Amino acid sequence: MYSAKVMDHFHNPRNVGEMDNPDGTGHVGNPVCGDIMEIYIKVKDNIITDVKFKTFGCGAAIATSSMVTEIVKGMSLEEALKISNKTVAEALGGLPAVKMHCSVLAEEALSSAIDDYLAKNPDKNTDALRKLHKTQHAHSEEESE
Ligand code: FES
Repeated sequence: MYSAKVMDHFHNPRNVGEMDNPDGTGHVGNPVCGDIMEIYIKVKDNIITDVKFKTFGCGAAIATSSMVTEIVKGMSLEEALKISNKTVAEALGGLPAVKMHCSVLAEEALSSAIDDYLAKNPDKNTDALRKLHKTQHAHSEEESE
């Protein structure tokens, strides 16, 4: 049912844990399954320099949150905002159709952490970045339906 990569990230999650004084924190939950995901980011000069996660959820939620942290570490905020749940699922070698919503949680948690950072640092960010965030957020809502 699951790819070897999913099983690897489930058994050996990367970047798991909390972060002291994160620059942005994302907190999302899926009301249907009740799973919860938190992502913490450190940002310097618009680059995500560190990222950690905490997930109370299914194996696919743990694997997708682990993978999304690996993907975005070192990325600019602009690049990170373009990461979709499909990018994460593909990087894991695919997910069963019934588990795609778990990858949406990873996309939304990252988006929420960036949103938190943008809200706390209005001076450091361009309008283009905010616009990109809004577009990405609308996309997430479509994907989660
Ligand atoms: Fe809820 Fe996977 S079953 S996120």
